[in-house]
Amino acid sequence: MTRRRWYATALLAVLLASGCTHPDDGYRAGAADAGDPYVPGAGNGGYDVADYRLRVRYDPATDRLTGQATVTATATAKLSRFNLDLAGLTVDRVRVDGADARHRHDGAELVVTPAHRLDPGKRFTVDVAYGGVPTPVVDGELGSGGLLATPDGAVALGQPTSASTWFPVNDHPSDKATYDIEVTVPEGLAALSNGVPRGERTSGGWTTWRWVEDAPMASYLTTLVIGDYRVSTGTHAGKPMVTAVAAALPADGPAAASVARTGAVVDFLASRFGPYPFDAYGGIAIADERIRYALETQSRPVYGPGFFRSGPNTVVVAHELAHQWFGDSVSVARWSDIWLNEGFATYAEWLWEEHDGGPTAQRNAELRYAATDWSKPSVDPGRAAMFGEGVYQRGALALHALRRAVGDDTFFRILRGWAAQRRGGNATTADFVGYAGQVAGRDLKPLLDAWLSGTTPPGLP
Ligand code: ARG
Ligand code: ZN
Repeated sequence: MTRRRWYATALLAVLLASGCTHPDDGYRAGAADAGDPYVPGAGNGGYDVADYRLRVRYDPATDRLTGQATVTATATAKLSRFNLDLAGLTVDRVRVDGADARHRHDGAELVVTPAHRLDPGKRFTVDVAYGGVPTPVVDGELGSGGLLATPDGAVALGQPTSASTWFPVNDHPSDKATYDIEVTVPEGLAALSNGVPRGERTSGGWTTWRWVEDAPMASYLTTLVIGDYRVSTGTHAGKPMVTAVAAALPADGPAAASVARTGAVVDFLASRFGPYPFDAYGGIAIADERIRYALETQSRPVYGPGFFRSGPNTVVVAHELAHQWFGDSVSVARWSDIWLNEGFATYAEWLWEEHDGGPTAQRNAELRYAATDWSKPSVDPGRAAMFGEGVYQRGALALHALRRAVGDDTFFRILRGWAAQRRGGNATTADFVGYAGQVAGRDLKPLLDAWLSGTTPPGLP
C-alpha cells in the first residue's frame, strides 16, 4: 500500500466510524419542490405537514407583516435538511423541536438544517420567526397571487400559489394540513380567514382575530382578508356562517345580495353532492379591482368585484361553493388534473342555473358542445391553460356526457360517493374514472377519455 493509499483508507475508516459525515449513510436533503411541472419550485419533498399554527400581525400603515409559524410535520425520508417555501420576507430564527436550526433563504426557498437529523416517521415541529413587507408572486401566464396590500388592509389570495408570500409552507395541494390562524390588525379593521371563528380580543389598539380550520386544507386555499368590512356572523345548519362585504361596496348592492344567498346555494348543492364537508360557511366580497377572479378559499370563498358589476350573481357563488366539495375537500394531487376542480364547479353552475329558473343543464351542455375547441384537452391542458375553457367548460361537458351515459341516479351516486370516499384527501383523474366505472358497473374509460382528451367531437349520448 502506498503512503497515499494508506491515508485514503484510514480517512475512510474514520468517516465510517464517525457515522455522520459519510455520504452514503442515507441522510439527504429533502427535495426543493414537489416535482409538479405546472409549479416549478413549489412544494418540497421529504416530509408531510399535519398542521400550521400561524400568528401574524399586519400593519396597513407600513405594509409590514410579522409572523410566528409553527409547522408540525412527519419526515418521510432520512433527512439531513429540508426546505419550506417562503417568498420574500426575512427569517429571524428557526427552531426544530425547540433547538436552534441553521437556515438559509435562497430565493423562495427557506433551507433548514436541524441540529439533529430526522428519520422517516419522526414527527417534528419547526418554529419560524419572520417578517417584512410581503410581495405578491408575479406570474405572467396566470396572473399574480399572494399577499396584496390594499388601501385599507391586505388580501392574500391566489391559485396555484399564494401562501408562501405570507408564511413558510409546503406550498403544494398534495400536502394538505389543518390550520390555526391568529391575525392581529389595528383595532377597527376586520381580519378574516378560513374556518371556524374563535373570537376576537383587543388590547393596546390592536385586535387579534382567531380562525381554526380542522379539516385538511391545501395551502392555496388559505386566505387572509384585512380591512374595512361589514362582517356578519351567524349560523347555518348548525355551523358558523361568517360573511363579509367590503365597506367600499354598497350595503344593499349586488355583491352583498349575492353573498347573502350562500346558505340557500349551499343547501341546494348539498342536496346534489351530499353533506357539506366543512365546519363553517361564508364568503367575502372584496372591492379591489386588481383581483379579477373569485377563489374557493376553504369554507369562505373570496369574490372579486367584477362578478357583481351588472347585478346579483349567484352563479359564481354556486361555482365557488361547489369547489368546497370538489377542489377543497377532494383535492388534486397535481395541477394537471385541475379539471377535477373546475369541470365539477362549472357543472354545478349548470345545475344551479337550472334549479334557479335559468337554462337547463342539457341546454348549457348543447351550447358548450357546439362551442368546444376539441384540440384543447381537459386533462393536462398545459400550465398556461390551467384556467382555460378546456378545463372549465369541456370538463363540465364531460360530466354531462357521463350523466347521459349512466343515467341521473348513477351519476349523482358517483358524485356523492366520490365526495364522501375522497373527503379530506387528494385524487387523480384515473382515480375518478376508476371510481365512476366501479359505481356504474362498467368501464367508463373510453367514454371519459373521449370527452376529456379526444381531439374529435364524440357523439352526444
Ligand atoms: N379557481 C378559481 C375559480 O375557478 C379561479 C382562479 C383563477 N386564478 C387565476 N390566477 N387566474 O373560481
Ligand atoms: Zn373554479
